[in-house]
Amino acid sequence: MDIKLSGITKEYLHEEGTRKVLDNLSLFVPSGHFVSIIGPSGCGKTTLLKLIGGFDGHSKPSREIFMIFQDANQLFPWRTLESNLSYAIRKTHKGISKAQAAEKAKAALSEVGLLEYHHYYPHQLSGGMKQRGALARALAVGCKVLLMDEPFTSLDRVNKEIAYELLLKIWREKKLTVIFVTHDLEEAERLSEQILYFEDLNGKISV
Ligand SMILES: Nc1ncnc2c1ncn2[C@@H]1O[C@H](COP(=O)(O)OP(=O)(O)O)[C@@H](O)[C@H]1O
Ligand SMILES: [Mg+2]
Repeated sequence: MDIKLSGITKEYLHEEGTRKVLDNLSLFVPSGHFVSIIGPSGCGKTTLLKLIGGFDGHSKPSREIFMIFQDANQLFPWRTLESNLSYAIRKTHKGISKAQAAEKAKAALSEVGLLEYHHYYPHQLSGGMKQRGALARALAVGCKVLLMDEPFTSLDRVNKEIAYELLLKIWREKKLTVIFVTHDLEEAERLSEQILYFEDLNGKISV
């Protein structure tokens, strides 16, 4: 699935007036590409991803586009890993049986190396495992586009490396489109086919 934005403007209302965060922004990411967007904190990266994902209230979120946030607490704390996934599957696949949903959930957990932890609750998992759980949920619902908002920032080097390898494997196997936002150039170079600088996308005359 291609991602195409053209001439997007977004401003936030503050007490002192409005602040334009996205200023005539244009972006094209062809289907199946892995692109990083790099920019300093506060420049508008999360705002951009939310807009692509339809989380800004202007468009409807689609199950084909899935966002993974920086915060490692994206799973419901009162559900096990497997139950988090099967809940998402049943929400997005109307009419699927409980048994089929459980099967799909286990398959996705297996892809991220968490099958043996299927019965764990989020608080029993490390930060890296929780982020892999969030990735498994995206796979379980059959997403085509992954929007990743500095997802590995809080992980240590070893867990980062595990997460990088896993993400690259899944991207290749599932032919996903990945838009990966980071402030870390080394990470962007390690992962993506193309690096875009936020400042180059923003404030230009759209094409
Ligand atoms: N819901 C909001 N209301 C008002 N201002 C916001 C809101 N979300 C973000 N901002 C402001 O927009 C700017 C860009 O934020 P953000 O997209 O989170 O940047 P980044 O992800 O690059 O750090 C910041 O100045 C932030 O304070
Ligand atoms: Mg952000």
